[in-house]
Amino acid sequence: MENERAQWGSKLGFILAAAGSAVGLGNIWKFPGRAFEGGGGCFLLIYLLIVIFLGAPMMLTELSVGRASQANIVGVFHKLGHRNFSWVGWIGVIGAFIITCYYAHVGGWVLRYVVGYATESSSIYSDSLGYFYNMLGLHGDGTTSIPWVAILFAAIFMAMNAIIIIRGVESGIEKFNKIGMPALFILLLILLVRSVTLDGAAEGLQYMVSLDWSKVNFSTFLAALGQAFYSLSIGMAIMITYGSYLPKTENIAKNTVLICAMDTMVAFLAGFIIVPAVFATLGESEIGKGGGFAFVSLAKVFDQMPGGTFFGVLFYLLLLFAALTSCISLVESIVAFLTEHFLWERTRTTIIVCVIMFLIGCLYTCTQAAVPLKGIWFDAANGVTYPAFCDFMEYLTDRIMIPVCALGCCIFVGWVWKPESAIEEIEQCGVRFGLAKVYAILIKYVAPVAILAILIMSFAAGMTLS
Ligand code: PFF
Repeated sequence: MENERAQWGSKLGFILAAAGSAVGLGNIWKFPGRAFEGGGGCFLLIYLLIVIFLGAPMMLTELSVGRASQANIVGVFHKLGHRNFSWVGWIGVIGAFIITCYYAHVGGWVLRYVVGYATESSSIYSDSLGYFYNMLGLHGDGTTSIPWVAILFAAIFMAMNAIIIIRGVESGIEKFNKIGMPALFILLLILLVRSVTLDGAAEGLQYMVSLDWSKVNFSTFLAALGQAFYSLSIGMAIMITYGSYLPKTENIAKNTVLICAMDTMVAFLAGFIIVPAVFATLGESEIGKGGGFAFVSLAKVFDQMPGGTFFGVLFYLLLLFAALTSCISLVESIVAFLTEHFLWERTRTTIIVCVIMFLIGCLYTCTQAAVPLKGIWFDAANGVTYPAFCDFMEYLTDRIMIPVCALGCCIFVGWVWKPESAIEEIEQCGVRFGLAKVYAILIKYVAPVAILAILIMSFAAGMTLS
């Protein structure tokens, strides 16, 4: 039947799909840059604490709310009898929508690199920065143009998503993850060895383990919070949607630990591969230019390893898989919401939504260089500023919508639905939840206070806008 609710085909299928949602571009494309900007070791430490004390309880909360109600993100609040919390769901869905717009485009860049390494790796090796900028429409002579090739690849990436979503949760998403995830992990380990042994990498490695607190401010905390939630796919309806497909026999507490651990491990691995590679590749003058880290700096790693071009293709292929499984989870939760809330038909909804998101995403790719469209931002220290539209999209989701949606979720579970209900749901699998008391305190007091404080302080104290 067209709109019947799906269920995961196997236990492993769910863990891999949830981990597949978590592990994505965020870990490899965003995390290393953030870790670099946040002062290396300090950022890693703050990030880790946030994952343990805020991320994991939030994920558990979302999974339990989803499974208890077996509904989509907005339906959850209706079903549990608290319609006045529907706004949390709406923010989640809209956040997921905006993220997908740009996510699919970065996925397209990854696809471009798969083809690039397969067909013209020597051009990448000879000028990796130039190749990246060129893809985004910024040419060596300073002129710009609409990056049609990147846009074309983004269209292909989005189409791949739509096809998998139309084929359904089980056959599409699960199969994908079973091979892709372990393969990605192994390849990362290989790259780690190559990267840290490059000439000049030691300095980067040192940077990643040293604690330089002078670079840390409230903005760092907000960046780490936004990054951790983004990376774990929480604060956006995803884990609620995925939890709703779970049978009651599943131990969601154990799964939460596994997913958080996998996701964080991949992010750290990527950080320890890419930051040292950046130090070894770009040199002092270029080092601050965050965005293209994962695309630009790895060229040297591949260039200087035996079979580098082969590994280059393989790496971007696996990153493509990781990006797809994450993007699929975003699209799935948007489609699940639209089909259930408005009773729209699944296939048509998927196609229409994907086309719209792709088109909005074109703004993301085009405003990297070619189109000077700006967004608008405000904080007390800098007043009103006008970041590039592409950055604005990311600020909007990572720095506002994700934290606010997460905050709404913990207030809902901590104070309205009550932690006891969540704990009861967690224990449905028949295993006692040993950390129930700690969980209740975290979700009721620690998480909402911490999220709110970080949100407010960062706006009050100002953020470093690049
Ligand atoms: N967690 C994914 C990543 O790190 O790339 C991205 C993502 C997927 C964010 C799903 C949010 C989401 F709901």
